[in-house]
Amino acid sequence: METQIKPHKANTFGKFSYLKNNVHLTSRYFFAPINAGLATKEGNPTDELISFHEKRSGKGIGINYVGNVSITKDYVTNNSTLFVSNNMQNWEKLVGFIEFSGSLPGVQVACYKSDYSLIRKWKNKDNDAYIKFTQEEINSFTTKEIDTLVKQFIDASVKLIKNGFKVIQIHAGHGYFLSTFTSKIFNRRTDEYGKDPLLILKRIFDGVRAKAGYSDYWLDLRISVFERSLDEDLEHKLLALNELTEHRSLDMISQVNGLYNLSKKLMYPNRALGHCFMKDDIAKLALKHPEILWNLCGNIWDLEEVESTPLPENITFSVGRALLADEYFVEKSFARKKDTINKCTFCNKCHYYSMGLPHIACGINPNLF
Ligand SMILES: Cc1cc2nc3c(=O)[nH]c(=O)nc-3n(C[C@H](O)[C@H](O)[C@H](O)COP(=O)(O)O)c2cc1C
Ligand code: SF4
Repeated sequence: METQIKPHKANTFGKFSYLKNNVHLTSRYFFAPINAGLATKEGNPTDELISFHEKRSGKGIGINYVGNVSITKDYVTNNSTLFVSNNMQNWEKLVGFIEFSGSLPGVQVACYKSDYSLIRKWKNKDNDAYIKFTQEEINSFTTKEIDTLVKQFIDASVKLIKNGFKVIQIHAGHGYFLSTFTSKIFNRRTDEYGKDPLLILKRIFDGVRAKAGYSDYWLDLRISVFERSLDEDLEHKLLALNELTEHRSLDMISQVNGLYNLSKKLMYPNRALGHCFMKDDIAKLALKHPEILWNLCGNIWDLEEVESTPLPENITFSVGRALLADEYFVEKSFARKKDTINKCTFCNKCHYYSMGLPHIACGINPNLF
């Protein structure tokens, strides 16, 4: 494995360089994965989706992630979700626009394999029933079914690499299949996938590496650090993250919080949680594991404050709503024109699924795509 790493210095606003496995990252601020609901019936990107991503590429954004791409048609979250198929139209165009505009094209590989319908409400009325349902469902899958899913994750990832994506993010957050399957709350299996709940991830990473090698793309894992509340004891989660880091397949670990079907409060943090509230937890992990990048996310709205905070050099940041509200958010921050930023008002209109809208919208940005 050829690895060349040039870590950046802290507080170099807008000046960043990190080269690994022939992939060159030039900004530590990313556009977070966002399911925009702009896919064709065949699971391919629409021209509106391409425009949505083009608007948030370049402009000081290091990676532009395409969110929530299902491994097959069977595991989509709604009818306008992207999925991998044998008819990948418009994907190279999407990748090309992101790359040409100046960001690395990233993609989030996801799977929602559950008969539990995604809740539209902000909070589940019966958490215990959801947990029991999901525990039983996870225990009911045969070992062979899990082997098949592993293969589908590998095949989908390799296909997306062939379509030009430079960062493959495996989605194990928010209560999606890999999130519940690897969580202590849900996985009570007695087979090899229960004895080692991380085995499924290790097999996916090893399988992707075996087929696609190590060069020209990065492997990233998005994982819910806090699942139910920010007061959780993190000891078990930290052990899991240590183990995954030591497995040595990953280039980056990306933090999120929360489980969609319990409460969306942690997934889409409210303003009261404060600016960049995850920085201390992620800083500890980044210091402990300097060999990979760490990505922190949630309520990042003041990059001058981020840049003036001493943080480990291997921390990067994903920005969601601030970039929905204003695609020039990073560029304006770099230019120290933060007074001109169109600021997210936390109005929640972008949660199109919960709001019963067909695709993404924004209360203050009528030109989202
Ligand atoms: C409309 C919308 C769609 C989202 N879709 C996804 C998704 O597909 N995958 C994912 O991991 N996170 C998704 N998220 C979560 C964001 O990536 C991000 O973690 C979250 O918005 C917190 O970051 P922020 O405070 O900068 O918005 C979505 C968020 C929003 C607002
Ligand atoms: S819809 Fe509202 S919450 Fe969502 S990005 Fe726009 S202003 Fe922010």
